[in-house]
Amino acid sequence: MAPAVSLPVLPPLVDAHARRVTYLRVSLTDRCNYRCTYCMPPEGVDLVPRQDVLAFEEIARIVRVFAGLGVRRVRLTGGEPTIRKGLPELVSRLTAIEGIESVVMTTNGHRLPELAKPLARAGLAEVNVSVDTLRADKFAAITRRGDLDRVLAGIDAARAAGMRVKLNTVALRGFNDDEIADLCAYGWRVGAVPRFIEHMPMSDGRLYAPGRELSAAAIRAAVAGRFGPVERVIDRGDATGPARYWAPGGDRARRFGIISAMTEHFCDTCNRVRLSAVGELHTCLAYDDAVNLRAILRGGGGDDAVRDAIRAALAGKRAGHDFRRSGHGAPSKHMISIGG
Ligand code: 5AD
Ligand code: SF4
Repeated sequence: MAPAVSLPVLPPLVDAHARRVTYLRVSLTDRCNYRCTYCMPPEGVDLVPRQDVLAFEEIARIVRVFAGLGVRRVRLTGGEPTIRKGLPELVSRLTAIEGIESVVMTTNGHRLPELAKPLARAGLAEVNVSVDTLRADKFAAITRRGDLDRVLAGIDAARAAGMRVKLNTVALRGFNDDEIADLCAYGWRVGAVPRFIEHMPMSDGRLYAPGRELSAAAIRAAVAGRFGPVERVIDRGDATGPARYWAPGGDRARRFGIISAMTEHFCDTCNRVRLSAVGELHTCLAYDDAVNLRAILRGGGGDDAVRDAIRAALAGKRAGHDFRRSGHGAPSKHMISIGG
């Protein structure tokens, strides 16, 4: 009889504050086909050299290492992830990795009309689509070039392809505070869960929003004003992400989420790290420090070296963010370079 082989079981990834890491956000590019005003300055940002952007093979390798350390969920972000050619192929590769239970994506939705079906077939389970307003002129203004009709068609295509859909709306006073209830009604009608994000004062964002932020409490009040008192309900997203869900009368079919990074922050339960398009590991959205995994890969380092670098990075993960409304404490990195 062959001797029993005992595979080494790696200790799970735990950060310096005893939080378990199970979720990896992967930025596929720092480029975008939109130019949202709160995400980047009008002149654009300095783009990274193309040869520094990780190839699919490199991304898959890093995800495999993370999966071995207990990461179960991967979110593709950008910039805009759908501008990477051959995206369905990457999704297939990632869903095939042992240990990875779900691959999801955050997108502006512009390319979903043609990509929803191939992505769903490749195993993409869910898309979060950014929709800040339902008025075409305002949509074109905030995205600087977006096409609302295409995005809404993309949401329909994603639903038709069988994916779960969530909406991401950055809530801004004087811009969409009068549309909070409309966005809910729209989401419930098309089978997408509406979610509202408190604006975070990152880089350009801090110039953009002072005085315009809408708090979680104000968002709940706006929904309650149209649909009646809201109660906390549970969504599958409670287990995986920072959004907390509410619904008028506790009716789950009409639930909506709030990501309240500022007024009701959730750092204590943070379960995630972020890989930038150039292979830098950011353990927190709110700080600029990062560890360069690309250099290890391209320098011929083995999986052990990648694992050691990941563990070392996690040992330095901060307890929480220090964003202030003034912009004090905000990182200088742009949201577009890390993908939220
Ligand atoms: N604050 C909050 N949310 C932001 N997003 C982009 N920039 C900011 C910001 N400064 C949102 C995008 C997208 C999600 C990933 O993050 O609209 O929906
Ligand atoms: Fe986690 Fe940092 Fe976000 Fe807080 S701000 S939830 S610590 S990534």
